[in-house]
Amino acid sequence: GFYVGTAVAGGGHHLEQDYPDPFTHDKVYRKILGKQFSSVSPENQMKWDFIHPERDRYRFEETDAIIDFAERHRQVVRGHTLLWHSQNPAWLEEGDFTAEELREILREHITTVVGRYAGRIQQWDVANEIFDEEGELRTRDNIWIRELGPGIVADAFRWAHEADPAAKLFFNDYNVEGVNAKSDAYYALVQELLAEGVPVHGFAVQGHLSTRYGFPGDLERNLLRFDELGLETAVTELDVRMDLPASGRPTKAQLMQQADYYDRALSACLAVEGCNSFTIWGFTDKYSWVPTFFEGEGSATVMTEKFVPKPAFFALRSTL
Ligand code: XIL
Repeated sequence: GFYVGTAVAGGGHHLEQDYPDPFTHDKVYRKILGKQFSSVSPENQMKWDFIHPERDRYRFEETDAIIDFAERHRQVVRGHTLLWHSQNPAWLEEGDFTAEELREILREHITTVVGRYAGRIQQWDVANEIFDEEGELRTRDNIWIRELGPGIVADAFRWAHEADPAAKLFFNDYNVEGVNAKSDAYYALVQELLAEGVPVHGFAVQGHLSTRYGFPGDLERNLLRFDELGLETAVTELDVRMDLPASGRPTKAQLMQQADYYDRALSACLAVEGCNSFTIWGFTDKYSWVPTFFEGEGSATVMTEKFVPKPAFFALRSTL
C-alpha cells in the first residue's frame, strides 16, 4: 500500500535536443524504471502543451505508452496536470476566447484526458501551483483563475471526478513542505472546498529542495494537519539540489547531506498515515531538470549520470 515513484523523462523533456525521448530510447533507463519503482509520473507528457498541442488535436501516444509500461510492471500512475499556469500551448494562452469558451475548453480537456485514462490513474494533480509565495491565488499568470475566477478550481475537481470517480484528486505545489503562508492558503482552501462537498482527496508537496535553504523540519507536522482533515497526502517531485564545486562533482559531505534530506522526506511521509505515495522527480542526473533551471546547482537525483547509485539511493532503500 505504499508507492515509491519517479517522474518519467520522455517526450516534451527539457533536454529533448540532446536526448530524444529517454523513456523510449535509453535501455538502461527503462530497465531501472521498470524495476525500482511502483509508481510513475509523466514528467511532461500529460501537460497541456504536450497532450493538447492544437485546439482540436490531442497527442496521447506517449502517455499511452507510459501507462502500458506501468501496467506491465505492476506500477500505478500519477497524472500531472490539469489546471496550471505553466506549459500551456500558445493557442490557449494567446487565443482570443470568451469566458464561456474558455470554461468549455477546460471542461472538454479534463473530460477527455481524465476520461481516456479512467481507472488507470491512481492520483491526479488536478490543480498545480495555484498560489504564490504570499498565499495569494495566481490571478495574474494563471489563465483559468484570471479569466474565470477562483471558482474554476472547484469545477476542475468536479469535472475530473465525474470523468474518473476512482482517481484521487490532488492539489500539488512547491514551497509548501513546511507550514507557511502558501501551505496555510491550501489549508484554508481545502477546508472550504470540503465543506462545499467538492471532491478533493489529497494535498501533495512537490519537494524540490536545495541544501542552500535547509530541510523543512516541519514537513511531517504540515502533512499531518492535512491528514487530520481527512485528506491523503503525498510527496510528488522530490529532488535535492546542491551548489556544485568547480569540479562539477559533489563532495562526499554534500552527498551525505543530500542522503539525509531524502531520508527525512521519506520518513516524514511514512510517519503520516495517509501519505502513501512518495515520488522523486527523476532518478538519474542524466535527465534531471535541475541544472537547466537552477544556475550553479545540480546533482539533485539519487543516481549519477551514469546511473551509479548515490548515498541517497541507499538511504531510501534502507528506510523502506
Ligand atoms: C519540469 C520538468 O521536469 C521539465 O522537464 C520541464 O521542462 C519543466 O517542468 N513543478 C512541476 C513540474 O509541477 O511539472 C515541473 O517539471 C517542475 C516543477
